[in-house]
Amino acid sequence: MKPVSKNQLKHQSSASQLRELTDPDESANPLPWYITMAMGALFMWGLFYISHAYMGVNSFEGDNRTMEVAAVAGAAGPAIDGGEVYQGKCVACHQANGGGVPGVFPPLAGSEYVLGKAEKLAAIPLHGIQGKLTVKGATYNGMMPVFADLLTDAEIAAVLTHIRSQWGNKAEAVTEETVKKVREATKSHTGPWNGDEDLSKL
Ligand code: HEC
Repeated sequence: MKPVSKNQLKHQSSASQLRELTDPDESANPLPWYITMAMGALFMWGLFYISHAYMGVNSFEGDNRTMEVAAVAGAAGPAIDGGEVYQGKCVACHQANGGGVPGVFPPLAGSEYVLGKAEKLAAIPLHGIQGKLTVKGATYNGMMPVFADLLTDAEIAAVLTHIRSQWGNKAEAVTEETVKKVREATKSHTGPWNGDEDLSKL
């Protein structure tokens, strides 16, 4: 029991006041040893983590790393997910439902190009398209970007296989070999395909 303070003594007049407990007092409690140990251990772990972290990836690569680079940096090469490539590279224009944007971006759902010959389809992301293009009876005159340097053959094959099996589309998978073959065969072609005119010849 702590001694009563002067202040309390002065007012020790009533029984009810005497029954009051003294004010609580904060004493000096040292940090428990295990907390100190845990902090030390966390600090050591932090040092260990930093010294063992893999810093070999250039920051500019960011999310633009191709699957190939990611596979080298990471463990065994993951199977390429065509849907992921679509989300990353195509969805902005052709939309999540493959319907495109009327008059601006042609649909992939039900498109004769998507469902047609695999070689002709592979040539589209490899070189892009510019000029009058007819898809499902509607005319477009926009610009389809070039993906030859942004995507590997395997990634192009995966994304094309993906769009051929989505939104009610049903067509055979596009293989990496096909994309590779078309890349070789069209190597000397420069600039984008000129819409219907060029594509009808492929
Ligand atoms: C910047 C917008 C844009 C992006 C991104 C884009 N496209 Fe296109 N795409 C177009 C436009 C515009 C056309 C039509 C070109 C024209 O009018 O001459 C087109 C045409 C096509 C066509 C032929 C027409 C059709 O609708 O079937 C295919 C196939 C195609 N794109 C696939 C893809 C794939 C696969 C990707 C992703 C790897 C992709 N596009 C990314 C804008 C884009």
